Amino acid sequence: MLKGVGAAAAGAAAPVARGADVVATDLAYICSALAGEFERLEGKRLLITGGAGFLGHYLVQAALAWNRRAPCARPIAVTVFDSYVRGVPAWLSGLQHDEALTLVRHDMTQPLPVDLGDFAYIIHAASIASPTYYRQHPIETMDANVNGLRALLEYARQQQARNRPVEGFLFFSSS
Ligand SMILES: NC(=O)c1ccc[n+]([C@@H]2O[C@H](COP(=O)([O-])OP(=O)(O)OC[C@H]3O[C@@H](n4cnc5c(N)ncnc54)[C@H](O)[C@@H]3O)[C@@H](O)[C@H]2O)c1
Repeated sequence: MLKGVGAAAAGAAAPVARGADVVATDLAYICSALAGEFERLEGKRLLITGGAGFLGHYLVQAALAWNRRAPCARPIAVTVFDSYVRGVPAWLSGLQHDEALTLVRHDMTQPLPVDLGDFAYIIHAASIASPTYYRQHPIETMDANVNGLRALLEYARQQQARNRPVEGFLFFSSS
């Protein structure tokens, strides 16, 4: 399901087959090595901010690969919040028909949507990550990291008070 997300960026066609094999091998290894962790995520909602980025590439795909590898009645439900400033990468738009994936266009410098629902796990990886660009956009970079993190932590605190606690929280942070 895509919410407010436009058309995919064009992807390179020729080298994809070989690259796809490498990714499939990597994902199989990740699922095997992290089986215990993925089992804990089953049937729960995982929010990944910056999920269209370099690190998001593996975070999103690994959870969806786990769902495919061990089909069960309780898949991991993955939601990606990203501003998609560089467009939606082909690898991510290629996954848009996966029912366990929800793509949302959201700028983490802005307040969180009010209708977030219950997320059991949160990974905050949304930020300008390139030194070239965060020197050009220092305020936006800090806002995504500091205000974005604070908004997510406030959400976690509210969830705790509602007896729907966030069970795990990972912040990548810009260097
Ligand atoms: N890649 C590394 O080796 C590395 C190392 C240490 C820390 N980190 C940190 O991890 C995080 C992710 O890094 P990456 O390499 O995947 O970066 P990336 O640039 O590939 O991905 C970042 C993603 O965040 C999105 N984004 C940027 N600003 C946003 C905002 N305000 N709201 C919503 N989405 C926004 C971008 O559209 C992009 O999809 C960054 O904070 C980075 O500094 C990365």
